[in-house]
Amino acid sequence: MLGIESSCDETAVALYERDAGLVAHLVYTQTEVHQEYGGVVPELASRDHVRKLTPMIGQLFDQSEYSLQDVAAVAYTAGPGLAGALMIGASVGRSLAWSLGVPAIPVHHMEGHLLAPLLDEPTPEFPFTALLVSGGHTMLVGVAGLGKYTLLGESVDDAVGEAFDKTAKLMGLGYPGGPALSRLAEEGDPQAFKLSRPMTNRPGLDFSFSGLKTQVANLIRDEANANRQADIAASFEQAVVDTLIIKCRRAVESTGYPRLVLAGGVSANQRLRKEMANWGKSKNIEVYYPSSDFCTDNAAMIALVGALRFDSGLSDSMSFSVRPRWPLTELSPP
Ligand code: KG4
Ligand code: ZN
Repeated sequence: MLGIESSCDETAVALYERDAGLVAHLVYTQTEVHQEYGGVVPELASRDHVRKLTPMIGQLFDQSEYSLQDVAAVAYTAGPGLAGALMIGASVGRSLAWSLGVPAIPVHHMEGHLLAPLLDEPTPEFPFTALLVSGGHTMLVGVAGLGKYTLLGESVDDAVGEAFDKTAKLMGLGYPGGPALSRLAEEGDPQAFKLSRPMTNRPGLDFSFSGLKTQVANLIRDEANANRQADIAASFEQAVVDTLIIKCRRAVESTGYPRLVLAGGVSANQRLRKEMANWGKSKNIEVYYPSSDFCTDNAAMIALVGALRFDSGLSDSMSFSVRPRWPLTELSPP
């Protein structure tokens, strides 16, 4: 399976083989393209995907013992994401599949994140509860099997990754700010400032993160905190982690599934991984998260989903579209 990912600001390609698992994968991050604008510029993202994607497919085969002729199917991200960026991956993927006479498989980006932990050992078995935390989404999902997803809760405003990025921007940490903020937080005291744990004092599994960002903005404005950047970062990170753990506990209670999977870019966060693992241990819940390469956008997860759906007998016509907005719960089992 050749996998292609181009939904946002990463161009990625991967080769996945049923028995061997992941054979090779490459990720190119467009950070430098967007840095001076402080966020992703969709048109620039599309143009960069055009430049990078085809040469990267060549490099991918150069790195492996396989050639294009060995490809049994091509999986590409069809949504959700930036319309223009998705179109690049979709048109390259579909035309390549057509020229090789093999099926093309449109993949849901969030299903990729959701199943990314299956790329590593030990793999979580179905069913599991999943916390999907990325730059664009914050969701709790009940995963009964491949394509059997129930949305349990989601963010009513900013996604967690977005809250990290916006808060980091307020603190002058640049773009993308999530990883930078979390590095700074390592040097701070997570109890230094009392921030709220939004929407935890009432029942429900939805999230809200935009208020936390405002609380941090107020702390930054206070001159007395001028030298306390690390404490602010640590307190913000701790508030997010506590909130996510409280909601995960509720979600696990509601599904009754004995396994919890963390996925998406924010699942690379060390404090979140450590504290969620400790909580799981105390409750006898197995906690899984992808290795850090597979937390953020990559094509290995797209190729994996493509392979799982291909093996379940998927067929598709030659016409295609992309879906910039695509609820995960509209998927059905293959
Ligand atoms: O899944 P992803 O690569 O892209 C989307 O599909 O959105 O997630 C990217 C997000 C960004 O908001 C980034 O700041 C955040 O994940 N992120 C982190 C960390 N690493 C990436 N947030 C907090 N701590 C991290 N270590
Ligand atoms: Zn993503």
